[in-house]
Amino acid sequence: MIKTFIPSEVPTPDFHGLVLASIAPRPIAFVSTIDHNGLPNLAPYSFFNVFGVNPPLLIFSPSRRVRGNTTKHTLENVEQVKEAVINVVNFDMVQQMSLTGAEYEKGVNEFEKSGLTPLPSLIVKPFRVKESPVQIECKVRDIIYTGNEGGAGNLVICEIVAIHAHDSLFDEKGQMDTRRLDLVGRLGADWYVRASGDALFELPKPSNPPGIGIDALPSFIKNNDVLTGNDLGALGNLPFLPSAEEADAYVKSAAYQDLLQNSNFSQLSMLEKSHYLISQGMVKESLLLLMSHSNS
Ligand SMILES: Cc1cc2nc3c(=O)[nH]c(=O)nc-3n(C[C@H](O)[C@H](O)[C@H](O)COP(=O)(O)O)c2cc1C
Repeated sequence: MIKTFIPSEVPTPDFHGLVLASIAPRPIAFVSTIDHNGLPNLAPYSFFNVFGVNPPLLIFSPSRRVRGNTTKHTLENVEQVKEAVINVVNFDMVQQMSLTGAEYEKGVNEFEKSGLTPLPSLIVKPFRVKESPVQIECKVRDIIYTGNEGGAGNLVICEIVAIHAHDSLFDEKGQMDTRRLDLVGRLGADWYVRASGDALFELPKPSNPPGIGIDALPSFIKNNDVLTGNDLGALGNLPFLPSAEEADAYVKSAAYQDLLQNSNFSQLSMLEKSHYLISQGMVKESLLLLMSHSNS
């Protein structure tokens, strides 16, 4: 049974929980701002993402509180001083980050509460967070107020003016290596996700020109109880259907005959063999095997 929710029919706190659990994991902007007296503020915001790179735009939303319909100090600060530093959050700083999400009184410096180190920025006035692996200096271009009720978002549109990243995050080719960041993301309720270890996996980009698509696969490949949606997606990403000759040549090849030497493999059904080959990254070989069967 599917449950359906219409926003106007669900109490806002419940709807809030539903949306936060569903739209996840979300990156966390650890936002540093100052007010017109130069007082620093630091708070986490997971209604956050990147929306362009030229110009480079980030948006986060300090919403009106569902309970009490009050506004956040971060919003008041960016209205006064149109600058922010968005720091990314890694696993080593989750407890200190979470502490700054508490509702401290106006004027309380969350750098002091959290023990995190304020670092002067290059271009903007708000501080960077020294412990954060990537610190992004921004000018606030615009603020879009989406409503007056509790739970309404206020979209703070930020243009990046500088990014600071620790050099240990880069590989020998100068590319930032995701595995070195150990980022955390926000999910529903009290859940977080840590982007490391088994949580990381690679999926090659969709092929260009586009793959053949699942619709182009013969029906015995599309309709069976063995090959999964992921298997079919991988097959559909291949650039062309192999010919009967290619398929025949593959099953006679030394490489395939070597695989058959393994009794665990040879005992599998043809579809199970195909599923196994895909799990080993041998997607093209899997389709060659399948197509050899279509000839027989
Ligand atoms: C991980 C995390 C993510 C959060 N994301 C948001 C968010 O996207 N929008 C929001 O309004 N509040 C969010 N909060 C709550 C604010 O951080 C919290 O209300 C904080 O007290 C605001 O601080 P400020 O008034 O100093 O800006 C989040 C809290 C945590 C711990």
